[in-house]
Amino acid sequence: MKIRDSIAFVTGANRGLGLSIAGELLARGAKQVYAGVRSTSSWEADIPGIVPIQLDVTDPVSIAAAAAQCPDVNLLVNNAGIARVTESTLDPAWIATAREIFETNFYGVVLTTQAFAPVLAANGGGAILNVLSDASWFARPLLSAYSATKSAAWSFTNAARIELREKNIQVLGLHVGFMDTDMTAGYDLKKTSPREVASQALSALENEQQEVLADENTRFIKQSLSGNQPYYLNVPALA
Ligand SMILES: NC(=O)c1ccc[n+]([C@@H]2O[C@H](COP(=O)([O-])OP(=O)(O)OC[C@H]3O[C@@H](n4cnc5c(N)ncnc54)[C@H](OP(=O)(O)O)[C@@H]3O)[C@@H](O)[C@H]2O)c1
Repeated sequence: MKIRDSIAFVTGANRGLGLSIAGELLARGAKQVYAGVRSTSSWEADIPGIVPIQLDVTDPVSIAAAAAQCPDVNLLVNNAGIARVTESTLDPAWIATAREIFETNFYGVVLTTQAFAPVLAANGGGAILNVLSDASWFARPLLSAYSATKSAAWSFTNAARIELREKNIQVLGLHVGFMDTDMTAGYDLKKTSPREVASQALSALENEQQEVLADENTRFIKQSLSGNQPYYLNVPALA
């Protein structure tokens, strides 16, 4: 997918990785970037080339309205996401927590893809970038509900890729570990810069890749899956 002159829609674009992707799209010559935001009144940035559009990925009505408002899109970035911790896998609140995260991280991706894929197809094709995680491939008990959503989103990404290829739509899965965004604020961990991740993801799109592993640990985890000691059997404690 060529970024220059593309017209992109980025969900959750007001901060974190979504904002970095929006900025990197413009830096690479995108003609227009629609920033999907839950509240357009909270959009404070005045960046030429970026147009805020109201979108809550848990609300099918807002997704349909956003797709109707942006009929020229040829690149969709499913970035919006939330994380919640549970006390353990036996936490009585686990199912309620998982349901909440699934609404955004999984059903949100499905609904937004279903709304925008016909738009992309009508424009001759394009690409969908799904922001996944290294946690698609392992689960710590505390983050097990979040991991389940990212495993599910990975699965959907893999199915959508096969089907949308026929419509000239490239589907790219981005897997990454901890990034330095609000989502990990307060956790003293090794984190990758979201700007660096945005740059890698867009280079992968331009190189026609179907998957991008944006940090060394994510590459190690993926490689371990086919070995005798896959990472998910012995996940180290958070440092
Ligand atoms: N940070 C990490 O370590 C990490 C690692 C791997 C993958 N990821 C993934 O990267 C993506 C971006 O996360 P981030 O780190 O940039 O997090 P972030 O800084 O917390 O930003 C999350 C973004 O998603 C938006 N959002 C949340 N729920 C939404 C909804 N229902 N509808 C529309 N937008 C919604 C937020 O909007 P509001 O401002 O309105 O809340 C915000 O713009 C997520 O999919 C996340 O799972 C993050």
